[in-house]
Amino acid sequence: MNVLDLFAGAGGAALGLHDAGFEHVACVERDASAAATLRAAGFPAVEADVRDLDYAALAGTIDVLWASPPCQAWSSANQHGGPKGEEDIARNGWPWTLRIVRIVRPRWAIFENVKNARAHVERAVLPELRKLYAHVALWVLNAADHGAPQSRTRIFVIAGPRPVQPPASQPRRTMRDAIAVPWDRPSPCVMTNEGKGRPTDPAWWRKLNNASDALALATDGARRKLTLGECATLQTFPQGYPFAGRPEDRYRQVGNAVPPSLAAAVARAVRAAEEGAGTIREGLSAIRASAERVERVLSLAVGFVRRRPPLGIAADDIDGFVTRNVTQLRAMVGDFLSRRTP
Ligand SMILES: C[S@@+](CC[C@H](N)C(=O)[O-])C[C@H]1O[C@@H](n2cnc3c(N)ncnc32)[C@H](O)[C@@H]1O
Repeated sequence: MNVLDLFAGAGGAALGLHDAGFEHVACVERDASAAATLRAAGFPAVEADVRDLDYAALAGTIDVLWASPPCQAWSSANQHGGPKGEEDIARNGWPWTLRIVRIVRPRWAIFENVKNARAHVERAVLPELRKLYAHVALWVLNAADHGAPQSRTRIFVIAGPRPVQPPASQPRRTMRDAIAVPWDRPSPCVMTNEGKGRPTDPAWWRKLNNASDALALATDGARRKLTLGECATLQTFPQGYPFAGRPEDRYRQVGNAVPPSLAAAVARAVRAAEEGAGTIREGLSAIRASAERVERVLSLAVGFVRRRPPLGIAADDIDGFVTRNVTQLRAMVGDFLSRRTP
């Protein structure tokens, strides 16, 4: 299945989709450093504003459109709690995304966002998708339940031609498991900044009572900032993933990403729904072909029985014999063959 990835960032979702067997047609991202990361990682980056591209040529050719529209107005990181004015509304990526869906008409649309955007999505996005798709679902998933040693709750909207089963939860991993720091729970959400502006004095960090965003408990009990590599591991990026740009660009790309393991779980769920449909279709056509063969053999068998009655069957009971042994079976096969394949 192919995928058009909008607001692709450094490719967290792209990696998950790739791991689940999807092939990218394009990853659209306007930030130069994130686009450089996508290119270095081998994705077909299109460095552009999603609003500036012409999508008409893609109409009807895309299996999955994945979008993580900008959500500053709802992000808990900026404690906005919803769009407040013209500027916030102008930065709302949902209308742009819906416009592209209407042009491209992908078989599946998958949207990811922060959980604070849920009310807006339920009010303004789901009704629009229901006009276009037979099945529209909203899931709330925590990355900690899908392979990431990090608590990060996100909403996912899945719109497509078939219902999809949400991915099953997996056992949780801790920060100790992942990056060997003494914290026996998943990490709190990895943030987009690198702890800039925070005091460097360990006493200040010690006052904090959990291992939060860009910090961790060091083995001596003092707190320290997590390295970029550690943050990337908590997000389930593979080691050595080629983040490009200045340190602050790279921290931002890591913090902004959908954890690849979470994206892969969602993508596999969609794939299973698609392949399930394919398997049922293939299974039914195989049964149909067998039923047609059975029907031909039965016709021959009935002709044979009429011409040469089996031993022990009286000539005047042949019709009864055929009715008892064959006609019923033929009726069942005929009934099956007359049904429409879903
Ligand atoms: C939440 S991040 C996406 C993360 C990405 N899906 C991942 O998994 O790594 C949102 C991204 O949208 C990009 N973005 C915001 N507005 C955009 C626009 N108008 N056109 C293209 N990209 C945009 C930002 O630069 C940012 O990288």
